[in-house]
Amino acid sequence: MARITHERWKVYGNVFDQFTINVIIKLSKQKHIDELISPISIGKEANIFSAKKTEEKTTIFRIVKIYRLEACNFNKMYDYIKHDPRYYNIKKQRRQVIFAWVQREYRNIMKAREAGVKVPMPIALLRHLIVMQFIGDESTGETAQRLKQAPPKNPKEFFQKLLKNLKLLYQKAHLVHGDLSEYNILNWKEIPVIIDFSQASPIDAANADELLDRDIRNMVSYFKKYGIKIRAEELKNSIKTTK
Ligand SMILES: Nc1ncnc2c1ncn2[C@@H]1O[C@H](COP(=O)(O)OP(=O)(O)O)[C@@H](O)[C@H]1O
Ligand SMILES: [Mg+2]
Repeated sequence: MARITHERWKVYGNVFDQFTINVIIKLSKQKHIDELISPISIGKEANIFSAKKTEEKTTIFRIVKIYRLEACNFNKMYDYIKHDPRYYNIKKQRRQVIFAWVQREYRNIMKAREAGVKVPMPIALLRHLIVMQFIGDESTGETAQRLKQAPPKNPKEFFQKLLKNLKLLYQKAHLVHGDLSEYNILNWKEIPVIIDFSQASPIDAANADELLDRDIRNMVSYFKKYGIKIRAEELKNSIKTTK
């Protein structure tokens, strides 16, 4: 049974439109979550909430990413997604673009996960909502911090782990992330977890190389601050080639 209490209804009603509330209810009927708990991040295009899910007396936290139907910049989304061969036929229509965008993010996380990249496990996708694994301590709700706030204790080791993930992403998932930075890498107990695959594109997309170069520049300049000296071309070769 969906556990949305009367009190919750009132809270939800102040924050979400009816369409979004209906999607939340459906996700809870499908038993992916019981209820939303609290906002974790308010972004430009989407908001992130923690949610709880109880199964046989064990309660765990989950993450729900909710795109803003009215406020997000669907023109920008369209400009990105139209280069993705998976979405060549997309029409420039607000809801269609947003739902495709969210679906694309979900598919990207799945592909990355299947390739062995350390990402949150995708759990459910419905319209403009994604339910995924909570990175951090699922039982207490302590979230992993972003690399920005939690720099690695051993930068060299951390960088090597990250590089392994980027190789898998490129060579096995055939994706480039497209928005890689210290904001979209979480540091959970010195293990890098890559999140936010909303801009990730297949390596054969027209703009893939441009996206990859930007990701690489971000990584080079972030790790430089922690004593890792690597040139962009060197990193690019390493991501693209085995060994
Ligand atoms: N699966 C997750 N587990 C824990 N925290 C998360 C998770 N997904 C997102 N977050 C938190 O929410 C923030 C925003 O999520 P993100 O997917 O990057 O959205 P945005 O598109 O707004 O940048 C992240 O920087 C991180 O702090
Ligand atoms: Mg982000």
